[in-house]
Amino acid sequence: MSKPWWRDAVLYQVYPRSFADGNGDGIGDLAGAAERLEYLEWLGVDAIWLNPIHPSPNVDWGYDVTDYTGIHPDLGTLDDLDRLIAEGASRGIRILLDLVPNHSSDGHPWFRERPDFYVWSEEIPNNWESIFGGGPAWTLDEERGRYYLHNFAPEQPDLNWWNPEVRAEFERILRFWFDRDVAGFRIDVAHAIVKDRELRDDPVIPGLGMRRRYSMFRPETHEILREWRALAETYDPPRLLLGEAYSLEAEQWAGYFGERDDQLDLAFAFMLTHAALDADEMRGVVSEIEAALPAHAWPCWAGSNHDIGRLATRWAKGDESRARCALLILLGLRGTPCLYYGDELALEAGAVPADRVLDCATPSRDPGRTPMPWTAGGDWLDPWLPLSDTSRNVEDQRVDSGSTLHFTRDLIGLRRQLPALRSGTYTEIPTSAGAWAWRRGADVAVAVNLADAPVELDDVSGAILLATNRSRDGELVESLALAPGEGAIVATSQRSSGSSAASE
Ligand code: GLC
Ligand code: CA
Repeated sequence: MSKPWWRDAVLYQVYPRSFADGNGDGIGDLAGAAERLEYLEWLGVDAIWLNPIHPSPNVDWGYDVTDYTGIHPDLGTLDDLDRLIAEGASRGIRILLDLVPNHSSDGHPWFRERPDFYVWSEEIPNNWESIFGGGPAWTLDEERGRYYLHNFAPEQPDLNWWNPEVRAEFERILRFWFDRDVAGFRIDVAHAIVKDRELRDDPVIPGLGMRRRYSMFRPETHEILREWRALAETYDPPRLLLGEAYSLEAEQWAGYFGERDDQLDLAFAFMLTHAALDADEMRGVVSEIEAALPAHAWPCWAGSNHDIGRLATRWAKGDESRARCALLILLGLRGTPCLYYGDELALEAGAVPADRVLDCATPSRDPGRTPMPWTAGGDWLDPWLPLSDTSRNVEDQRVDSGSTLHFTRDLIGLRRQLPALRSGTYTEIPTSAGAWAWRRGADVAVAVNLADAPVELDDVSGAILLATNRSRDGELVESLALAPGEGAIVATSQRSSGSSAASE
């Protein structure tokens, strides 16, 4: 079988309500996203993942679905999606949707018409806690006089995956979108779809809080992933399954790929996402992941998303050079990177005043969901979430070759040019404290200095292909010196017969 497209790809997450507004009502939409395909093609991304676009009362902004095969009227129509898919295809950009199988909205007709699709109990049966709010994961349905399970908000009743008809419904939903040329799905809460059939108590470990052994991470979930994978592979090209797959440790996480490459194609490596921007910590996480992964598995790296917020704030504390280091890490590791809209600008968390907060979770995730700043002037009429700081915007950065936007574009370009940077093995290079460096294949090195003091890397010599400090591009180094918060990609072989790190 030929190499699947996504192994070489750069993914880009679009939060639809905040990306681009096509009709000027303050809410981003599918038509707006289609208008920005030109930008995304220029940037060089291969696919976009859209957060849920289905009809929803928006208690959890689309993660509470009332119709899995419809489009939310705020975002457009099925025709708009077809157009986005077709225009994307003409620019080499594929479209991934978000599948929310763990729960529906309590406004989904199923909740009234098909109680057997949900999980019920006469009494609160166990100590499972809701992830939003921390109270019990069980709420009394007044009408029925019974409790239903919701791992998230009470308006998000968990589906009963022990019911074969639920499984059949989701097969139908997958086929519906795959038949429309959707390239694949990001799968929401992929680690927790099936719950313990006996609803046993989660063990409480003193000091660690609840250890979710029965409310999540059930082995039966793997069966579902296997069924979906088999279905996805009946399509040409096979449709991509990318999991939001949390785990308690690297080995458990590696299990989502299946022993025989028969489950997820890609899974977000959240151990890195949640690590600090710290050389020792990140190096440790990556070596654990590298050691745990079966040969066929392929991690997906992200530093930002709609839940965790923006890497430029979270990791880089606003420092643009450190944000570029983060991009070097995401695109320099072995795996598929997923940028969150605005990462390419080093966009920071937005300011959302208390009276504008719309998120159901605490702390609010809204600062990481504010509108994309296309221009310094804003380019949004009365946006749904405030557009606070537009100092890092597309228009200004696109005409500035020294900008982070150009840095990101050149980094994506370099990845495309150098096979080693896409598929070469990962090998640590010894460094002094505070720095992290690794080789990709034989003759490409990636290095970042995440410390507050300068470092010198004796084991990295060659020609700088791309540096966070762009004035160093092309520099020849005997031993790579990096200022605090600086990073670079280096072609380490200097063979006269044309370097082997050179383009394909
Ligand atoms: C996932 C989503 C998050 C949502 C939750 C419940 O974690 O990424 O945004 O709130 O699932 O669907
Ligand atoms: Ca709109």
